[in-house]
Amino acid sequence: MKEKYLLPDQKAAARRSRTAAEKEYGLFSLSEEAKGLGQGKKYMVKTYGCQANVRDGESLSGMLEEMGFERADRPENADVIIFNTCAVRRAAEEHVLGEIGSLKHMKLAHPEKVIAVCGCMAQEEDVVSEVLRKYPQVDLIFGTHNIYRLPELLLKASEGKGRTVEVFSEEGRIIEDLPVRRTSRYKGFVNIMYGCDKFCTYCIVPYTRGKQRSRDREDILKEIENLKSQGRKEVVLLGQNVNAYGKDLGMTDGFSDLLEACAETGIERIRFYTSHPRDYSATTIDVMKKYPNIMKSLHLPVQSGSDEILRRMARGYTAGSYRKLYDDMKEKIPEITFTTDLIVGFPGETEEQFQQTMDLVDYCKFDLAYSFVYSPRSGTPAAKLQDDTPEEVKKQRLYRLNERLAMHARENNEKYRDRIVKVLCEGRSKKNSEIWSGYSEENKLVNFSGPDDCEGKIVDVRITDIHSFTLDGMAL
Ligand code: SAH
Ligand code: SF4
Ligand code: F3S
Repeated sequence: MKEKYLLPDQKAAARRSRTAAEKEYGLFSLSEEAKGLGQGKKYMVKTYGCQANVRDGESLSGMLEEMGFERADRPENADVIIFNTCAVRRAAEEHVLGEIGSLKHMKLAHPEKVIAVCGCMAQEEDVVSEVLRKYPQVDLIFGTHNIYRLPELLLKASEGKGRTVEVFSEEGRIIEDLPVRRTSRYKGFVNIMYGCDKFCTYCIVPYTRGKQRSRDREDILKEIENLKSQGRKEVVLLGQNVNAYGKDLGMTDGFSDLLEACAETGIERIRFYTSHPRDYSATTIDVMKKYPNIMKSLHLPVQSGSDEILRRMARGYTAGSYRKLYDDMKEKIPEITFTTDLIVGFPGETEEQFQQTMDLVDYCKFDLAYSFVYSPRSGTPAAKLQDDTPEEVKKQRLYRLNERLAMHARENNEKYRDRIVKVLCEGRSKKNSEIWSGYSEENKLVNFSGPDDCEGKIVDVRITDIHSFTLDGMAL
């Protein structure tokens, strides 16, 4: 029987209409057959990439648990293994493909196991064709727009009649009411919007996640109230460009209003990712200042310090306007911490343009930065640009940049010595089971010693030692 695959189409995925996204309530349901599928079986969801993907992974887990599956800690113990993938850089993709490759023998020995690939890689034409050609162990591929279809897709894949591929290349809807199994007991991720319309020339996200679409404020606030009533201390508002919240619903300064409403719920801590410098509004800074439960840390990706590179990236701001935004915020909230994302080796980047990035880093002295070598993404405009900088030169630039970033981060941390910071204790440190670990209000990772009952509490910690990206301390 010839299989009918619904394959990704990146051109179709890049189309944008002016109509508001459809909202779907109660779309998820379980047929009697699907309900029984997980009885006595185990699942594993391996998530890569950003927090939006982590939140999707929590919905996948939630659906699987409603189907009766239990969680497994490794692939050998799981009947269903789902790779919830990220497509932002080739290195991330190769890592996942390597992991899928390593399951080949397990699948041969246990053909009844189901191996699935979803997330952003599943929305890419090249990747799906590569998986179909080279990874026969994969039974099911589905995309970011149809995770609600997981029960039906699993039923189909479990019949063992060939592979199932169902990827929608659409602008995207807003799908409410999916079950969720949260990863953290103390924090909760809350999507405030999906997708992205910015089309930065290097970036695959607008093709894999559909158009920018904001959730209704009532649905967001309901989710936060719910998290609060479960005793959670922190919510993290998510979107590729949170400052544009509500623009698709006709609001002018939707994010500031939403942030204020979230703060009014009284949840102890609020953070938000990611802000785009282009849409940042001054009123957001005022709201941040007004409410003590909005954490004073900002992730504001700059990507480059060169105006020419920023222009070719289509970021819509200059190094100068970024510095001004930075200065305004530091002036209004002097204790604010800043983090960013940086790309080196964008096509045609000269040594001088790279130096401009170093200059910007010296100016802003970020507390932390995620830095990457540019990775061409098939179907994006930048992938067609001529790029004659050798890979070795790019790696050297990344190395120099990272040295500089670590130096500033460490210098920033000096001021925390002997200071008392408030840490949401999330559990034992990964490296040392005697030590507690959690994030301070400033978003510093703090490892500390303290009494046995710290977990899940906001603890006062005196800082005794500092490193570039972490602080050590003792609970008071
Ligand atoms: N919406 C966020 C970023 C999401 S992707 C924003 O606009 O700031 C996370 C980060 O990955 C980006 O900030 C960028 O630094 C990096 N990135 C995205 N595409 C990349 C590519 N093709 N090569 C290297 N890094 C990339
Ligand atoms: Fe990608 Fe730019 Fe959208 Fe961020 S704003 S997700 S970098 S296209
Ligand atoms: Fe990666 Fe997709 Fe997030 S490409 S960064 S998982 S939106």
